[in-house]
Amino acid sequence: MDVNIINGRVWINGNLEEANISINNGKISKLTNKENIQEADETIDAKENIVFPGFVDVHTHLRDSEFSYKEDFDSGTKAAIAGGFTTILDMPNTNPPITNVAELNNRQKRANNNIFCNVGFYCSPVNANDINELKISNAIGYKIYLHKPFPDQDLSDKNLIEIMYKIKENNGILAIHAEDHNWFDGIIHTNEAEIKAIKRITDLAKLTKCKIHFVHVSTKEGLGIIKQNKKELDVSCEATPHHTILNTDKIKGREYYCEPPLRDKENQESILNSIIEGDIDMIATDHAPHSIQDKKEGKPGFSGLEITAPLIIDLYKKDKITLKRIYEILVWNPIMRFGIKNRGKIKEGYIADLVVFDENKEQIINVNKFFSKGKNSPFDGMKITGSITKTIVNGKMVFDGKNIINSGMGKVLQNQLDF
Ligand code: NCD
Ligand code: ZN
Repeated sequence: MDVNIINGRVWINGNLEEANISINNGKISKLTNKENIQEADETIDAKENIVFPGFVDVHTHLRDSEFSYKEDFDSGTKAAIAGGFTTILDMPNTNPPITNVAELNNRQKRANNNIFCNVGFYCSPVNANDINELKISNAIGYKIYLHKPFPDQDLSDKNLIEIMYKIKENNGILAIHAEDHNWFDGIIHTNEAEIKAIKRITDLAKLTKCKIHFVHVSTKEGLGIIKQNKKELDVSCEATPHHTILNTDKIKGREYYCEPPLRDKENQESILNSIIEGDIDMIATDHAPHSIQDKKEGKPGFSGLEITAPLIIDLYKKDKITLKRIYEILVWNPIMRFGIKNRGKIKEGYIADLVVFDENKEQIINVNKFFSKGKNSPFDGMKITGSITKTIVNGKMVFDGKNIINSGMGKVLQNQLDF
């Protein structure tokens, strides 16, 4: 054996069990009790903490390239493993943007050997005809920003329908940032803007039967439309920790600006309840790092990778959410929805992507301690209960609760080859 993880309370088949995990060649090779454990080169003591399948984030902006001053592959994937994420999906609104096969291939090539966790890459297609080849090039999903098309990207119904048919044909998934700028009130991203956009896309999905994922849903009414259509359509959605926990009754100010913006208490509570009850399928960080200067100039978004899972563990400690639900929203639903193979379970034969966390260890969120270059968070200074104590990627410990160890363990996700 290469590695044994001992003394953990291990999430196996929906329960916490006292088991030892043996890892060989990056895979879970055996689950044993103390007596039957075989010798290994390395032993990791989980110290009675919870051992979970690694968390998966379907909405990360790793930036890099021309935006490396905000974040790059190195800092972004370090932030991911410090937050317990072993797999993240990277968004295409980079500079240059990822809108075609050549840019996708470039980005994957640059990421290779530079990433601490596994990364799948989205593409935002300009031509429906590129989608066959984008699939072959391992686009993990397709992303459309309805309010901010990329140059040459035609988001008329006619073209969106073409894109959707092609994605459907390729068994892909289309992630939608649902905001319709025709409903903005000046610079204000109104609730209506989200509601109208969700309505438009669900109507197009009825026609095309394309698999849709709505990113960062923030309004009760928008969510209601998704809920109504869940039986008929292949549709899922995510919420961010900020839309789930914070609202404009408490948090105000330009520095706390993100898109979609924080909403009032009624909307926030409906997001939180839907996370708990199941109408929202997953939590996603929308990790959107910016420089201090960019934030001053009004750029939207916050760094979320390092605090999202601890914030959810804090909800567990407050008895608002179960461990089973945490597993669904941070591991299993993202894995299933985006077709990630052979990860997400602590079971013999699965790849050893694991997170160890102490659900009783308090921390005060401090942006200056982030590995991320983006030092912006509306949660800065908040005291929460729950800390990541170890992260294991592809069988190697990469984060020990404090420091990053073992570099370059992450892999670029490929559509079919990871099983
Ligand atoms: C994101 C960014 O900065 O890239 N910002 C944000 O507030 N969410 C863009 C996005 O996800 O829409
Ligand atoms: Zn985003």
